[in-house]
Amino acid sequence: MIVEHERWLKRKDLEYKSDFLHFAGMNLFELAKKHGTPLYVISEDIIRQRYRELKKVLNSEYENNDIHFAVKANSSLTVLKILQSEGANFDCTSRGEIFTCLAAGISPEQIIYTGNMFTNEDFEYAIKNKIMVNLDSISQLKRLIETYKRLNIPSSEYKPISFRINPEFGAGHHPHTITAGKHVKFGILEEQVVEAYTRAKNSGFSKFGIHMHIGSGIINYKDYEQPMIKFLSIIRNLREKLDISFEFIDFGGGLGIPYRPEEEPLDLEGYKNIVLRPFKEFVLSTSMGSVNFKIEPGRYLSAESGVLLTQINTIKNNGYKLFAGVDAGFNTLIRPTMYGSYHHIIPCKLSKEKNELVYDIAGPICESGDILGKERKLPELSENDYLAIMDAGAYGYVMSSQYNSRPRPAEVLLTQGKDVLIRKPETHDDLIKNQLIPDHLK
Ligand code: LLP
Repeated sequence: MIVEHERWLKRKDLEYKSDFLHFAGMNLFELAKKHGTPLYVISEDIIRQRYRELKKVLNSEYENNDIHFAVKANSSLTVLKILQSEGANFDCTSRGEIFTCLAAGISPEQIIYTGNMFTNEDFEYAIKNKIMVNLDSISQLKRLIETYKRLNIPSSEYKPISFRINPEFGAGHHPHTITAGKHVKFGILEEQVVEAYTRAKNSGFSKFGIHMHIGSGIINYKDYEQPMIKFLSIIRNLREKLDISFEFIDFGGGLGIPYRPEEEPLDLEGYKNIVLRPFKEFVLSTSMGSVNFKIEPGRYLSAESGVLLTQINTIKNNGYKLFAGVDAGFNTLIRPTMYGSYHHIIPCKLSKEKNELVYDIAGPICESGDILGKERKLPELSENDYLAIMDAGAYGYVMSSQYNSRPRPAEVLLTQGKDVLIRKPETHDDLIKNQLIPDHLK
């Protein structure tokens, strides 16, 4: 069954050569042995390929476009630098993400700060670092202006201002990742949009952007159709009422990837026809002039660049179920536990002559929910074998934790036939280094 998926694996630069699984041309069995497990492995090539294919599609329709990588998907300095070298821009959701981008040498003009529940400290940090803010509520505008004033910055130096619009039609792979609709916390609804921009205009802002993000993990491009229609009609109305011209219109992220072998990749041409083409027609019909088209994908650019390697330590048949116990758990990759997400799991060394059996791949965390893969048909496994958990380059390491006091793993970059350590594994000392013991217990 693994061999049947060759075409699907090939897209992700995974291939069995003499029964050993290779990623970006490198033997994953050897890498697991060399660096130890669990281990996050990132392919530089895949990140570059995904960026280029997406950019090409956008350029083919509308050249004034920017892709802002959603840093929340993968905030490794190396990944950010790779994308920067491709010409990417960035979307940050916290001061920490901005700090990380700046540390990677990314310039403030390349960053949009799309937070939610902003604090005054967030605004101060953004203003001091000359970062553009994408607001999530009308009330935040007042506090942002107060912060500009407190820092003695004249309105002529205000960065462009943008609001996140909630177009009410959302989509996503799980209810937690659908970010539009009357009952979700994000953005402002249609009824508030004119008020928001009126206030911004009256407060001295002269440059504007507008934004939506409907959700995450969208594999069917048609899910963008209704939100697009709604979003564009909101913008049209805003222009008619307020005579605002926009520097940019941002259509958010959400572009999904094929996690399952039976899934086809997102149809980028379809996406282009449903998002970019109506945008272009809209721009022409409203004679808006030159407006920058933005999107902010995270998963699409980084998910397939990451493989999580783990070693089997225990094979256990409890009479009802067969478990392969591994050293990665939901502390390392939380998506299966948190969303019931599917990550394909395959052996680093294939034994074609072995029978296929059905396993639950279980991590070491003391909770029954610590299952990385449910009922997976795999060639008979043995203790000490290595497994590769695929598509872990987005929302993998960034969502990992030290739960059960397990240090986070190392990260290795595969580049031009070499493996380079890009993040050291945490140690037991890291578990306690920020803790203080009160005097009376010393
Ligand atoms: N822009 C904004 C404003 C967002 O909130 C997000 C994701 C993105 C862009 C990027 O979405 P993407 O292109 O990666 O789908 N932890 C979840 C995903 C949560 C996404 C949150 N926001 C998961 O593991 O599936």
